[in-house]
Amino acid sequence: MKLADNKATLSFSNGSPSVEMPVYQGNIGPDVIDIRKLYAQTGMFTYDPGFLSTASCQSGITYIDGDKGELLYRGYPIEQLATNVDYLDTCHLLLKGELPNKTEQVAFHKLVTNHTMVNEQMQFFLRGFRRDAHPMAVLTGLVGALSAFYHDSTDINNPEHREIAAIRLIAKMPTLVAMAYKYGVGQPFMYPQNDLSYSGNFLRMMFGTPCEEYKVNPVIERAMDRIFILHADHEQNASTSTVRLCGSSGTNPFAAIAAGVACLWGPAHGGANEACLNMLEDIQRQGGVSKVGQFMEQVKDKNSGVKLMGFGHRVYKNYDPRAKLMQETCNEVLEALGLENDPLFKLAKQLEKIALEDDYFVQRKLYPNVDFYSGIVQRAIGIPVNLFTGIFALARTVGWIAQLNEMIGDPEYKIGRPRQLFTGSVKRDVKPLDQR
Ligand code: ACO
Repeated sequence: MKLADNKATLSFSNGSPSVEMPVYQGNIGPDVIDIRKLYAQTGMFTYDPGFLSTASCQSGITYIDGDKGELLYRGYPIEQLATNVDYLDTCHLLLKGELPNKTEQVAFHKLVTNHTMVNEQMQFFLRGFRRDAHPMAVLTGLVGALSAFYHDSTDINNPEHREIAAIRLIAKMPTLVAMAYKYGVGQPFMYPQNDLSYSGNFLRMMFGTPCEEYKVNPVIERAMDRIFILHADHEQNASTSTVRLCGSSGTNPFAAIAAGVACLWGPAHGGANEACLNMLEDIQRQGGVSKVGQFMEQVKDKNSGVKLMGFGHRVYKNYDPRAKLMQETCNEVLEALGLENDPLFKLAKQLEKIALEDDYFVQRKLYPNVDFYSGIVQRAIGIPVNLFTGIFALARTVGWIAQLNEMIGDPEYKIGRPRQLFTGSVKRDVKPLDQR
């Protein structure tokens, strides 16, 4: 961390002595005020629910400029990565800091491919779930269960263990997501096929059956790969912060990633793509494009509790760059599948147009986020709505593990332990039952 030229001074209106705090500069983005000694110096904490103004760590992985609508993985713009490299190259970049050269690429792809199978016992574990269980419930369980299978990669203080846990997670997530899907529809599990690409293999495990050969459609394969790249990391979002907090106790890495899966499930985070598609289907059922105006009135009415899902973001106060790329992919996939006139796509475009011109959205800087179009693409590919967040979890696993490993390697890392402003009862005595 680089010290900035200036310092921050905190003064108090009651005459308590003011305190000086160092300011640090990152390579880009806002400076941070170091408040670590604040409690020791003043006996006070800071108050910041939802971490609106708090940098919880230093990180060199992903950078977002929310005002510009810019997203960089290790310095590379998401637009360049999405058009020039594949998901496994992106994983290499996030984990190791650099895009692979040819030799590294071959070695990395081989390494991941060699770990795609899961222990055969996992099937029996899966069979304990109800067939109609939500795939995110299943995945939270399955990823947590990995911690019981790989005893040779659980020492998070050992860099080799961290590396092999990362490879195992990246390699096995597609297998687990596809198994969760196959279990729900009652079809046989498909074992991975190692001569296929990462995305091609996932599509085959999802949609292939042992009865006939599965032919990977290159447009769908590319779309899947792009979905994975766009969701691979997003700096200190809720699920990543969950993984860091969970991992900060020194827990098993697979258990920490399971915590990330659990957090991602929520509709304010990874569950938004599922919620967005359900919203579009609801509007469509009620009359489609003709009902958009009425729906928007509900969204703007604070008492209705209705939100335009797939819109708004804690950090982006401009167009989410991933949403643009996803819209492009959406056009490609719908065209390749002959679904150009898909009513939900038309509806989404109409909603977007109205929202981008409406004062309510303009004033609050609410723009489409990645989830606005990703649901339509996934639905066209044949992925069921309740599996959307599972696909997101698959893609984000690399981000979670890269961030977890970065944290463990950071000499400044400590167990995460926030403080509170206590508003409950002060000390009192327990009364006998007849006096309560
Ligand atoms: N529809 C309608 N109004 C909205 C929306 C929306 N989608 N998003 C935010 N607003 C309004 C809020 O009501 C608030 O209005 P106010 O100032 O009058 O009270 C204002 O815009 C600011 O929004 P906040 O909720 O304070 O912003 P915050 O950063 O806390 O929340 C969030 C961001 C959770 C993403 C929010 O925009 C939202 O719920 N969006 C819909 C869900 C969604 O798409 N989530 C996906 C996020 S991307 C991801 O996880 C991959």
